[in-house]
Amino acid sequence: MTDSAVAPPEAILIVDFGSQVTQLIARRVREAGVYCEIVPFQSAAAAYDRLRPKGVILSGGPASVTDVAGPRAPQAMLDDAVPVFGICYGEQALAHQLGGTVVASHGGEFGRAFIDVVDDCGLFAGVWARGERHQVWMSHGDKVTALPSGYRTVATSDGAPFAAIADDVRRHYGVQFHPEVVHTPDGAKLIANFVLGVAGCAATWSMAGYRAAKVAAIRAQVGDAKVICGLSGGVDSSVAALLIHEAIGDALTCVFVDTGLLRAGEAEQVVSLFREHYHIPLIAVDASDAFLAALAGVTDPEAKRKAIGKTFIDVFDAEAGRIDGARFLAQGTLYPDVIESVSYAGGPSVTIKSHHNVGGLPERMNLALVEPLRELFKDEVRVLGRELGLTQAFVGRHPFPGPGLAIRIPGEVTRAKCDILRAADAVYLAEIRAAGLYDAIWQAFAVLLPVRTVGVMGDGRTYDYVCALRAVTSVDGMTADVYPFDAAFLSRVATRIVNEVAGINRVVYDYTSKPPGTIEWE
Ligand code: XMP
Repeated sequence: MTDSAVAPPEAILIVDFGSQVTQLIARRVREAGVYCEIVPFQSAAAAYDRLRPKGVILSGGPASVTDVAGPRAPQAMLDDAVPVFGICYGEQALAHQLGGTVVASHGGEFGRAFIDVVDDCGLFAGVWARGERHQVWMSHGDKVTALPSGYRTVATSDGAPFAAIADDVRRHYGVQFHPEVVHTPDGAKLIANFVLGVAGCAATWSMAGYRAAKVAAIRAQVGDAKVICGLSGGVDSSVAALLIHEAIGDALTCVFVDTGLLRAGEAEQVVSLFREHYHIPLIAVDASDAFLAALAGVTDPEAKRKAIGKTFIDVFDAEAGRIDGARFLAQGTLYPDVIESVSYAGGPSVTIKSHHNVGGLPERMNLALVEPLRELFKDEVRVLGRELGLTQAFVGRHPFPGPGLAIRIPGEVTRAKCDILRAADAVYLAEIRAAGLYDAIWQAFAVLLPVRTVGVMGDGRTYDYVCALRAVTSVDGMTADVYPFDAAFLSRVATRIVNEVAGINRVVYDYTSKPPGTIEWE
């Protein structure tokens, strides 16, 4: 699945047993300057043969190794001379598969814990020393109770007598805690120690190197064919387009569809950035009539998403059809979208919202895909965007959903409502920027409720819409906390919106975290 053309000769393989935080292991390895890939345990053996990694990290996971059907690491990895680092379930798998004992335990340890370092080992070199006590983050039920031969205990905790184990000869290490999370303050250093010290990788993976390798890979993939790239105005598709343009120049044509559901000034910004600043061939189409027609009378959130997705495909297909000889479609797919999720229950997880923006396009248009960002995390894409000359203000923009303002207008979407919401949203974001808060917030936006309430302005009665404000902090959009604005800020925004935006006479602040709320209202 991953483009092995850009895999440097030195790589770390991360075997995923289904932990919620496996991606953080990859982040830490990359931060240490080393390329890595995450693969589900089911396909780990094939990836091991393909990648010939200099080290293997076994992730945590929800299963129990005491279960005969529980997931296992490919035995060949454990029997080879390759260094192995088992984390939580990974430690248990290591112990269990090499002849130690793991028992199911009812208590377990969850959250902050302290470990006592009882011996030195390669994993701790220069970070932790014998006799010290350190904070870690634990999340386990089962625990190791007897070690495989050759292993020794190097740290203990109250709940895990084998909190860290080592076999320096085989270069095998296991920890019951999670070094990849920030709540283990020295965790990143332990992971760096494993990849640079134990596995002996050089810290050579850099964004500049990635850019050069990707440009070569795009040229090799595309040859002299033409590529179409759908620009959404967001960071991902913009960075993908710039990288491809660097590789193949004007054989790339971008298509920007103005859905009429964008934020204030966004369509103009995209057109001027790409056409005037970067001189990239761009077809820009105002399709707002088609989108609003498709949304007329539609109130169900999923029906809205489907109507928008279908209209997008129709419009994009028609525009792209005018480009002769296009054989490739570029997409800004990111690594989190690529990683196959590990499921034990067998069934698909519940769909809360369908996030298909352009799903189905490649099949319908019979085009092959170019996805130059598929090895990157969101913040790495921002770094690459900066490398390619985008401003911090552009790459630091808050995420914006494919269906746009339509899912911030519960009930029927009309052009008039979009205009009202756009104006309120612009006031809110301008105040956030003026207060210097923009970068501290993951996402902030206004929502136009389908509710009208009575107000009084001047000496007259008003009967207008309610605007809800939302602002959250988040690391990845999966969970979110409400941003705690002070009262003076909120009242300033509310006053400005009611005074300046015709159609709104009341402003409320959404105080719901995710879960139980979602970030968007639909
Ligand atoms: P929720 O509302 O599910 O959103 O908490 C999580 C993150 O995903 C964004 N989002 C979308 N992004 N297409 C997208 O590209 C979509 O259909 C979509 N729906 C939600 C949302 O803005 C937030 O950042």
